[in-house]
Amino acid sequence: MQAPDSASSSTTAQPFPTVAVVGLGTMGAGVAVAIARSGRRVIGIEANAAGAARALARIEAATAHAVERERLTAEERTALLALIGVGAQLDAAAAADLVIEEIPEQLELKRDLFAELDKICPPHTVLATGTTSLSVTRIAAATGRPDRVLGLHFFNPVHAMKLVEVVRTVLTAGQVAEEAAGFARSLGKEPVAAGDRAGFVVNGLLFAYLNQAAAMYESKYATREDIDAAMRLGCGLPMGPLALLDLIGVDTARTVLEAMYEQSRDRLHAPAPILGQLVAAGLLGRKTGRGFYTYEAPGSSKVVAEPGAGTVARTAGRAVERVGVCGSGTMATGIAEVFAKAGYQVTLVARSQEKADRAKSQLARSLARSVEKGRLTEEQREAALALVTPAAQLTDLAEADLVLEAVAEDLAVKRELFATLDKICRPGAVLATTTSSLPVISCATATGRPRDVVGMHFFNPAPAMKLVEVVSTVLTAPDVTATVLEVCARVRKHPVECGDRAGFIVNALLFPYLNDAVRMLEEHYATVDDIDTAMKLGCGYPMGPFELLDVVGLDVSLTIERVLHQEFREPGLAAAPLLEHLVAAGCLGRKTGRGFRDHARR
Ligand SMILES: NC(=O)c1ccc[n+]([C@@H]2O[C@H](COP(=O)([O-])OP(=O)(O)OC[C@H]3O[C@@H](n4cnc5c(N)ncnc54)[C@H](O)[C@@H]3O)[C@@H](O)[C@H]2O)c1
Repeated sequence: MQAPDSASSSTTAQPFPTVAVVGLGTMGAGVAVAIARSGRRVIGIEANAAGAARALARIEAATAHAVERERLTAEERTALLALIGVGAQLDAAAAADLVIEEIPEQLELKRDLFAELDKICPPHTVLATGTTSLSVTRIAAATGRPDRVLGLHFFNPVHAMKLVEVVRTVLTAGQVAEEAAGFARSLGKEPVAAGDRAGFVVNGLLFAYLNQAAAMYESKYATREDIDAAMRLGCGLPMGPLALLDLIGVDTARTVLEAMYEQSRDRLHAPAPILGQLVAAGLLGRKTGRGFYTYEAPGSSKVVAEPGAGTVARTAGRAVERVGVCGSGTMATGIAEVFAKAGYQVTLVARSQEKADRAKSQLARSLARSVEKGRLTEEQREAALALVTPAAQLTDLAEADLVLEAVAEDLAVKRELFATLDKICRPGAVLATTTSSLPVISCATATGRPRDVVGMHFFNPAPAMKLVEVVSTVLTAPDVTATVLEVCARVRKHPVECGDRAGFIVNALLFPYLNDAVRMLEEHYATVDDIDTAMKLGCGYPMGPFELLDVVGLDVSLTIERVLHQEFREPGLAAAPLLEHLVAAGCLGRKTGRGFRDHARR
């Protein structure tokens, strides 16, 4: 064993002055470096001499890379390496105050190790497992000190990810969990408390969503590119779910889901069959060069086309010059702005001339803001504004090539509007609904020309959000879908194509995840703040689920969840009772000052 620097920090007041890390692979090496960076002595232990040599090389390479990236100076690296000793004798763990296990994810392997450590280490030593999906309780039960056993779940890559889930079993002493949280903080990490259940907070919420995305792809509801683009552009997520599955490893994801299903018996956790097929075929994701996507080489992040994949010839769309927008709310105004900025003639029809004029003033203000922010020139603003004609009569849409409705989210209102448009609009005009939760086909059948009706689901605020879900019904003509796709390109939006079912792509994947978060809270598994922090730091999400629910509105969220449940009848999609109670109590989120958080007091 290489001797660690004798000038260890055992005299400091830091929790756990000496830490052993057992297993120095992907996670263990990262954890060892993070601990040494806090000035602590690290006893690194591998399975054998060859493993120890590989581990040392891994740590040296990782720290050299950190120097190249200027995350560390050369001097700091030297000092840090002096604090890390690496050997192959488990007995060395006897000198540690805390032992962190980071060996492969197999229960028997981990239980055997903990039984050994229990014999080797003095009674005060805390034993932590780095498991992702195994039961911490079962691992603790292999020792005679379950009160001093817990989970410390770091995220990969350890140097970049600030989150650590501190997992308490029913037997873990409160003080031990607190010390472990303090230890995580002393590494510059953010600890969140979690109980012992498969997936803990982050993976528990993340993997259910990834599984639904895999199932959505498997059912051919949308392409892999469209599913990924929808979640990136519609929710601001750093990666699409299928690309993320490839990064995590399809095999790892399947293992985590199996463990979750084992505990929850929730069908939404049962690994999508496609995951099993990919694993059986050895298509494990980036690490093998192919998973949902094909990569340039194993380990590469560069996606390449599959050999033999050609582009499919598309039907040409219909010509669109004049656009009609029905409605005077946020979406209608935003959509009118998008079209006017792209040079289309826009007739904005509201229920009265006054409302239409007000919508145009709103649009003018939005354009002026864009000029202030330097996104638009004065000439462009004037040109766009001149293209918008506010009107109070639907008959003004007689010559429009494309009409989009963004009126109230009420099927009766929309059907009546479509029936009127059917009488007014010229033959061949494309009629689009922007509904987010109603069936497009129900709008289509209110007309005598259902082939010309399509869904165009914009996101709020329409001028800023790049995504449009293009929804074709079973009756939509191919050249109508093509028209809308071409129009999206002209207005510089990113279209994704999907069928006419509840939630389309984004809401069908987003809202079950939000509902799972509410259920997690309801079960007192973790707090609002811990869940939000965990998802932001563990997954790089722009907002935590409760922040998002409060912004979207709890009533709006509940409606979407009910629609999803009604459509798929999946028990796991039933809205969490806590959400129903909050809505019943008038706690609707930011708009009423209170939702999951109290905004009035802030
Ligand atoms: N990779 C990730 O993204 C990630 C993220 C969070 C948590 N985890 C969890 O962290 C743990 C480690 O995962 P990993 O990805 O680092 O695995 P890995 O395969 O990269 O590393 C495991 C290391 O343990 C060593 N080892 C095996 N048996 C040993 C023993 N008896 N004594 C000492 N060393 C032994 C191996 O030689 C190897 O170096 C697992 O429980 C995993 O679920 C992984």
